[in-house]
This record gives sequence, C-alpha cells and structure tokens, in this order.
Amino acid sequence: MMTVPNEPKIRLEHVGKMFDSFVALDDLSLDIRPGEFLAIVGPSGSGKTTVLNMLAGLDRQSSGTILLDGKPIAGPGPDRGVMFQDYALFPWQTVRGNVGFGLTHGPAGAGLDRAAREARVARVIDLVNLGGAEERYPHQLSGGMRQRVALGRLIANEPEVLLMDEPLAALDAQTRLVLQDEILRIWRQDQPAAERRTVVFITHGIDEAVYLADRVVVLGSRPGRLKAIVDVDLPRPRNEATRATAAFADLSRSIWELIRDEAIRATVE
Ligand SMILES: Nc1ncnc2c1ncn2[C@@H]1O[C@H](COP(=O)(O)OP(=O)(O)O)[C@@H](O)[C@H]1O
Ligand SMILES: [Mg+2]
Repeated sequence: MMTVPNEPKIRLEHVGKMFDSFVALDDLSLDIRPGEFLAIVGPSGSGKTTVLNMLAGLDRQSSGTILLDGKPIAGPGPDRGVMFQDYALFPWQTVRGNVGFGLTHGPAGAGLDRAAREARVARVIDLVNLGGAEERYPHQLSGGMRQRVALGRLIANEPEVLLMDEPLAALDAQTRLVLQDEILRIWRQDQPAAERRTVVFITHGIDEAVYLADRVVVLGSRPGRLKAIVDVDLPRPRNEATRATAAFADLSRSIWELIRDEAIRATVE
C-alpha cells in the first residue's frame, strides 16, 4: 500500500455538492485515517450517498477538494471498492464467477496468472463463508448469501479503501449481525491498524455504526452538513459482549440524540 503514516488516507476540504440550485452537501471537511473504520449516519437526504459517490469517483463535488493519498480523486479506480445495498450480482455467473469477476475482467487481476486468480477466489470464498456454494447461481441464494458474494467480490479485488452504502440494510436482523462480524474480520479487526483497510460505511443503524466504527460521522439535513464526529473508544476485537456494555448504550444514545429531531421531522413531512 502507498499509505504514508500520519497522512490522512482521504481528505475532504470544504466539499460542497449542488444539484442545480439545491444544496445536497454544504462545506464538509473531514480527514479519514489509513486503516480507519469510519461510519456515516444521518437522516435520509443528509447527503450520505452523495459523499460516497464522490469518494468512489462516480460523481464530482461542486466545490472544495477531495484527496486520496494526497491526490485529487478524478474518477473510479481499482484502489477503491464500492458496495451498495442492492449490489447487483451477475445472474449468469456462479458464486465463483461473481467473486472472481473483477480479477478476470478488471484491472485488479492484471499481473496474476490463472492459478493465482483461482487461489485468491478460493481464499475469498472461504473468508466470506461461502464454501460449498461455489457453483450456485444468485437466484439459488438467500439475501444474506448474496450480500456475502457481493462482499467477496469487493474483497477479491483487494482495494485499499472499501466504500459501503448501507450494505446490510436489506437483510433480516440476525443476518445483519452475522455479517457485521464478517465485515470486521475482513477489515482485519484482529490486526494492528497498519494492516487494516480503510472503510467508509454508511448506515441507518446507529447500533451498527457504534459496533463497527472507530469514529461515527453524524450528518444533518437541509442542507446536508457535518453535525458531529463521535469517537467510538470501545476496545477491539468487538464481539457480542460489546453490545451489552454500558459504554455501547451511552454512545448509541448520544448519537441518537444528535439526529433525533431531524429523524422525527423526516417522518411527518
Ligand atoms: N442526482 C440528483 N439530483 C437531484 N437531487 C439529488 C440527486 N442525488 C441526490 N439528490 C438530493 O440530495 C440530497 C442528498 O441525497 P443523498 O446523498 O442520496 O442522501 P442520503 O443518502 O443521506 O439519504 C437529497 O435531498 C436528494 O434528494
Ligand atoms: Mg443514501
């Protein structure tokens, strides 16, 4: 990795985004540290997806600067992997084909011979617990398994930065909890920070943000803007016991208090 210690992996400086005259995001400044797990929460319409799309290089800011490793983001790149809530799998490809798609067809596989690609796909399938399902097609999988495939496809490309927009929102509550732990494992929760990937994870779930993240960015709406950055100083590795601690409840409550008024307003308008 080209990460320079003590330099932010991603730096947003006074970033704004307009859609015509509508301000979707107003003056967001934020440093994301290398190896950090950063969660973003906020009511609907607070600009969360807008931020992620700009980090992915799928959309461009109207004002301000976004730097990745000190260089402006000019478009999508293999250094960043993106996962959405409804990440479409290729229906004509098996689990193995979907996980390996980027390696076979994209820049991530350049320089790897066939044996190395196959070995990496096998390792990733193991990592996301899809062993035994390699030859199945997406329509033969549960929602949770499909998101594991999407997660596997993301990991197989080995991007330095993982950008996830509500990746678990469509899943049932139990599956969501299981995949939260998978995501922490894949992020390398057990490794020193220098070994970890950088994650930007958008979620509606305050508990989910607190469970996963090192810091939680709270956005407000109308216009979308930074409201607070909350440090989550819960020890790692986190596990089921973490959710039962008073510190966990306190953090969740304080974040809820930051967004409660706007969240309630959003339900009555
Ligand atoms: N392509 C677009 N054209 C016009 N308005 C948009 C567009 N994309 C997003 N918006 C508006 O910008 C605001 C922020 O949207 P978004 O980033 O999707 O919010 P969030 O993901 O937090 O729900 C919303 O009010 C939304 O309607
Ligand atoms: Mg969104």
